[in-house]
Amino acid sequence: MLRTPSAVRDAERHTAHNYHPLPVVISSAEGAWLTDVDGRRYLDCLAGYSALNFGHRHPKLIEAAHAQLDRLTLTSRAFVHDQFADFCRELAALCGKDLVLPMNTGAEAVETGIKVARKWGYQVKGVAPGQANIVVAEGNFHGRTTTIVSFSTDEDARADFGPYTPGFTVVPYGDLDALAAAIDENTVAVLLEPIQGEQGVVVPPEGYLPGVREVCTERNVLFVADEIQSGLGRTGATFACDLEGVVPDMYLLGKALGGGIVPVSAVAANRDVLGVLQPGQHGSTFGGNPLACAVATEVVRLLATGEFQRRSAELGERLKAGLEALLGKGLVAVRVRGLWAGVDIDPALMSGRQACERLMERGVLAKDTHGSTIRLAPPLVITEDEIDHAVAQLAAVLAG
Ligand SMILES: Cc1ncc(COP(=O)(O)O)c(C=O)c1O
Repeated sequence: MLRTPSAVRDAERHTAHNYHPLPVVISSAEGAWLTDVDGRRYLDCLAGYSALNFGHRHPKLIEAAHAQLDRLTLTSRAFVHDQFADFCRELAALCGKDLVLPMNTGAEAVETGIKVARKWGYQVKGVAPGQANIVVAEGNFHGRTTTIVSFSTDEDARADFGPYTPGFTVVPYGDLDALAAAIDENTVAVLLEPIQGEQGVVVPPEGYLPGVREVCTERNVLFVADEIQSGLGRTGATFACDLEGVVPDMYLLGKALGGGIVPVSAVAANRDVLGVLQPGQHGSTFGGNPLACAVATEVVRLLATGEFQRRSAELGERLKAGLEALLGKGLVAVRVRGLWAGVDIDPALMSGRQACERLMERGVLAKDTHGSTIRLAPPLVITEDEIDHAVAQLAAVLAG
């Protein structure tokens, strides 16, 4: 008898229903492959929303975690520990910034970025007390805190969670004129995803990000790039901003920084920005803990080799070619950057959810978003054959 149906029921019995997972119960994983409680194998084409860029249980990351577990796991930032300096120095170098501030989840990195931008606005730019404003984009996804959902344009994410935090102006994504027009003397930052992941891997028009950079510099506004999903190798470069030759004032990082093992996020910026924080003004009990730093330092070292960015760029071409061949055969749009793809299914055929269920039956796990879109984001350790396999299964699903 299959264990999956009862395991799915058990998993739902005592939890809030804030997710609608596919009915698959995973018990182990390695590289790009998952195994369920009934021994069935699946190719992982979600990679924990890009938290597993290096695959499941990458040997170097597991080794770093094991070694650290045997020595020291937590001190709090009340004391200094011996994993902290290397992590901060090496991550700052990867980002080309002076300083980093480690936190845990992506949403916390975004909250940190908002606080730092506001403080910078008051202390450095000279914005009048309580007036700081941040320009954000329609279709954004930056996390789930009450402040962050206050400027979400997704009603599911936002409705009934008010009263909402003021201080944000929403403009259409990709429209540089609208963004420039929204900036005034109280604007402290523009907060954007360089590619909107949750929205369906939406890539802004060419020239948009360099244009945002220029406007921000001209108007003395911080450009804060949320690279929590797009960064750390996913798009074929260390940062999605690199693809457009853009350097933001602040990077927000998360997901893959923890190697798929522990939650690790961070803000990276120069001293003139992150230096506005003084002791007692921000922090987190677990932020920058020894286990997190040990794993994340190894993540930074993997990225410093450039191997994963290269793989993502090269294999991404194969994924793109495979998916574009399905245009007109069930797909109506395909957007690919590196090993990150958003594909829109002809809604007359099936919903994204139905497509994901059928892919699951064929041993491929992916996630739908916004009705008829599927996001594909396999671990960057995926092989050419495995990419072909995933595309072939999608083709079979679309062919019905
Ligand atoms: C661009 C972006 N920012 C922030 C977040 C929030 O990260 P977390 O779920 O770790 O809080 C996400 C999560 O999907 C994201 O995609």
